[in-house]
Amino acid sequence: MKHFLKENDFTVYEREEIFSRAANFKENRSHHTRSLNEQTWGMLFFKNSTRTRLSFEVGIAELGARTVFLDNNTMQIGRGESLADTAKVFSRYLHGLVIRSYGHEVVEEFSREGSIPVVNALTDFLHPCQIYSDVFTLAEKWGGSGDQLESLKGRKLVFYGDCCCNMANSWIMAASLFGLELVFSGPEAFQPKDQILHLLEQGGLESSYTYEADPLVAAESADAFYTDVWVSMGKEAESDERITQMKPYSVTMKLLSRGNPDSLFLHCMPTHPGLEVTQEVLDSDHAHLFDQAENRLHVQKAILSQLVKPDGLDPTN
Ligand code: CP
Repeated sequence: MKHFLKENDFTVYEREEIFSRAANFKENRSHHTRSLNEQTWGMLFFKNSTRTRLSFEVGIAELGARTVFLDNNTMQIGRGESLADTAKVFSRYLHGLVIRSYGHEVVEEFSREGSIPVVNALTDFLHPCQIYSDVFTLAEKWGGSGDQLESLKGRKLVFYGDCCCNMANSWIMAASLFGLELVFSGPEAFQPKDQILHLLEQGGLESSYTYEADPLVAAESADAFYTDVWVSMGKEAESDERITQMKPYSVTMKLLSRGNPDSLFLHCMPTHPGLEVTQEVLDSDHAHLFDQAENRLHVQKAILSQLVKPDGLDPTN
């Protein structure tokens, strides 16, 4: 049983297939495929979502299947029923499961205890669907098509702010898998933690990022700038302290002026203008946030098709 819980759950060959299929899905949106023909997928969300929920619901419908949205507050897991029993019950009704949770161990337990494919739609540790979509977006901008993964090799991406959040961790994985030069710039206390370094080690991957405390130095010759919300879901109690510490790492036009003239600004959204990024940057030609958001749809359709694909068959047929 194949799952997508972390960026390296697919082989190089599978990743190439996914990005190629996503480019094809994007080019031929009206040409509906039936790779999830008549299936029913569960969408178990412990956290709020706009883009992820909608892109999966639309994408699964376009693949010929239906979704059931599962709100943990109205289910028995909200009253203490075990994840293991829930996973086994889900597996008797559903063909696959998309989960957004706080702890990464939740998606791991569902994948272990159930018998259907599980997709990580964000945990506090990783956001692999977002990062595949962001990689696709960079390949579109630099290589002309989302499957031109070679175009990422050696490009410099600077990540500002909370460098131990789920998106920062996912960029560490992506930099290693796709050959980007990744630079982190944020408060000393928010550098990558052991958990992500262990994951790299387990996967036999090189950790290929550097850290630069000075945000202007970090920006030198950057090809892409990335930031994420400073106060993630579940961290609201630490809001004031975090904002004070992160303030020097707000992405501004001054920072972008240190990068390459045609540098890209990406953000997974939702944004908080005036905090992690200025409105001026969001309004500039550098920003490509809505392309990122759109690409969630095409890339996730390709991921789901890959997960259900019988070996050796082309799921676009
Ligand atoms: N980027 C992202 O995951 O957006 P949502 O939280 O709206 O799903």
